[in-house]
Amino acid sequence: MTTTAVTHIASLVTNDPSLGNGTPLGLIQDAAVVIDGDRIVWTGESSKAPATDNVLDAAGRAVIPGFVDSHSHLVFAGDRTQEFNARMSGQPYRAGGIRTTVAATRAASDEELSANVARYLAEALRQGTTTFETKSGYGLTVEDEARALRIASRHTDEVTYLGAHIVSPDYADDPAGYVDLVTGPMLEACAPHARWIDVFCEQGAFDGDQARAILTAGRAKGLHPRIHANQLTYGPGVQLAVELDAASADHCTHLTDADVDALGQGNTVATLLPGAEFSTRATWPDARRLLDAGATVALSTDCNPGSSFTSSVPFCVALAVRDMGMTPDEAIWSATAGGAAALRRTDIGRITPGARADLVLLDAPSHVHLAYRPGVPLVSAVWRSGQRVV
Ligand code: NIG
Ligand code: FE
Repeated sequence: MTTTAVTHIASLVTNDPSLGNGTPLGLIQDAAVVIDGDRIVWTGESSKAPATDNVLDAAGRAVIPGFVDSHSHLVFAGDRTQEFNARMSGQPYRAGGIRTTVAATRAASDEELSANVARYLAEALRQGTTTFETKSGYGLTVEDEARALRIASRHTDEVTYLGAHIVSPDYADDPAGYVDLVTGPMLEACAPHARWIDVFCEQGAFDGDQARAILTAGRAKGLHPRIHANQLTYGPGVQLAVELDAASADHCTHLTDADVDALGQGNTVATLLPGAEFSTRATWPDARRLLDAGATVALSTDCNPGSSFTSSVPFCVALAVRDMGMTPDEAIWSATAGGAAALRRTDIGRITPGARADLVLLDAPSHVHLAYRPGVPLVSAVWRSGQRVV
């Protein structure tokens, strides 16, 4: 196998606290990384790097792990420009706009949907995302949900069944019947194509009892839970996530002290999605409060055409630092190792021997510039599984 060294890295984020400066980022100055095939085989000081077949001189630039975007909704058609315009003129965000995307998605061909996923993925890759999760949730029939998951699984292994996004318009008068569908024939058709099951636990979507029934049914079929929790209002989602050992409670915008304590003590990652608060002009989630309580925090895009139409993790990092009380170090950790934790993965989100060789070379001397220079395209090269892809 061919070995490649990236040398003279001004500042390397390893996410291994036993390395370098001993902080959670495990920062090494004047570092090198050696890749063999799809794996990282060596990290350390540049002057001590072993000989390799190829050498790329980073010439004073920084390297970070590829971003792990653990929450997106990419299988959709159309957009919601009008709804965004109305919001920016003062209308509140109503998740009912999801129905507009459901209609457009049902009407689209498989090819159109797959091309859309590929397009947003290419955008994300150019901005440093090397792993992403994506969900169904804009089909809401047995066939359309299974189709969305089949399409998603052509592009990623991290696929989530979200038949319980909202009650299907076809079941407007029979929400209990829709829950039976989601936990019965739809689950049967979808489970083979997904790793995760998710529910939008919110007023106007699914309540705590419905969410518990849906996630429990999914678990019995081998899907592991994650939850859209406490986005628009206070509610039972976070407590349910911790109770069911969900990998992640996502959004976490409206939290009681008991919710924060539960996340601080449990195994469930709090995934914050600042693109949604930005794009809906909502209250920011309080990352500081969660971090101070000991919670593991992930940062992701929530890329979807309604509440957060951004594929940019660097943008979310900048928002989290500016408006959610995170330091640049914490935000970079959350967008890499935090995302990996939210997907219960240990092979990604770090640059240490044995990890998948997912690296981002920045046109900047340190990772801090991602928050310090918002909106600037600082990603200059990306390797995924050892292959140079940008
Ligand atoms: O995570 N909150 C529910 N689902 C998405 C929004 C979907 C939409 O508006 O189309 C979210 O924000
Ligand atoms: Fe979402």
